[in-house]
Amino acid sequence: MAINTTLLFIGCGNMGAAIAGGALRQMPGVRIVALDPDPDRARSLLPPGAEVQLHDKPAALTGLSPDLTILGVKPQTFPDLAPEVMSLMRASPIVSIMAGISLDRLNADLAPSAVVRVMPNLPALVGQGMSLGCTTAVLPASTTTVIEALFNAIGRFDWVAGEDLFERANPAFACGPGFVFAFAEQMILAAIGQGLPRDLAERLVHQTFVGSAKMLSEDPRGAAGLKRAVSSPGGTTLAGLSVLEAETGLPRLLSGTLAAAHARALELAKPAG
Ligand SMILES: NC(=O)c1ccc[n+]([C@@H]2O[C@H](COP(=O)([O-])OP(=O)(O)OC[C@H]3O[C@@H](n4cnc5c(N)ncnc54)[C@H](OP(=O)(O)O)[C@@H]3O)[C@@H](O)[C@H]2O)c1
Repeated sequence: MAINTTLLFIGCGNMGAAIAGGALRQMPGVRIVALDPDPDRARSLLPPGAEVQLHDKPAALTGLSPDLTILGVKPQTFPDLAPEVMSLMRASPIVSIMAGISLDRLNADLAPSAVVRVMPNLPALVGQGMSLGCTTAVLPASTTTVIEALFNAIGRFDWVAGEDLFERANPAFACGPGFVFAFAEQMILAAIGQGLPRDLAERLVHQTFVGSAKMLSEDPRGAAGLKRAVSSPGGTTLAGLSVLEAETGLPRLLSGTLAAAHARALELAKPAG
């Protein structure tokens, strides 16, 4: 799909650069301009030779009229953005990828712009991210198309209705990679506990996660169906699953894990004071 559009990135760090790189790969005709105080670092995070106009001073953006602005600074940096950057942002629809800054606050600070919150996750850095969007704005179809193309370019994108559900979804996929890595780490340690050398345990577990993730993404049986397929009656996998899926095992652990992450997000979103 050829998309003749100008994207402005405010902040071109790990996530901004991953999104910009995806756009350059998947959205022919896109023009990308980025503001970041450290253009050398930003350049190092972008794909080699990426055609991104990088600036370190807001003044360089004077006269720019982006079709969409991607706000990718750390949440704690948001209040310090220069007034001219805030004015520029108020002239285009905005996607904020900042964790924990609510639509109410963004709408108040960036009115009259249409604001969308999108939460990408870490695998966006390898083009396999999961991103979720929500908004209270009524977006022009052309803006919706660009947002969907942009986040599908770094993996998959979906919308959710309402910010409450957006926040409730975040632990499963935004924190999710951390939980998956923790599971892999414990599996490696358990394999070492069975007497395997660490490097072999790591190779076995890493490839098991890669292969299982590929099956999850390609096989219509889904997680429960694939688990059944690998568990023959009276067999070894089932013996392991009887421990893993006991009431005090994964079911309770994971519901507690997601609940704790959500509770912390609510705490962090409270105004300081
Ligand atoms: N990384 C993730 O997995 C992930 C997932 C979901 C959402 N997010 C969100 O994505 C945002 C960026 O995260 P990140 O990991 O990409 O952080 P990051 O690497 O620190 O990127 C933020 C970038 O913004 C730059 N910046 C700071 N002040 C600026 C200003 N006034 N104008 C323009 N740029 C400015 C920073 O430069 P300096 O370093 O020089 O200050 C840095 O290059 C955060 O809000 C985070 O909540 C990240």
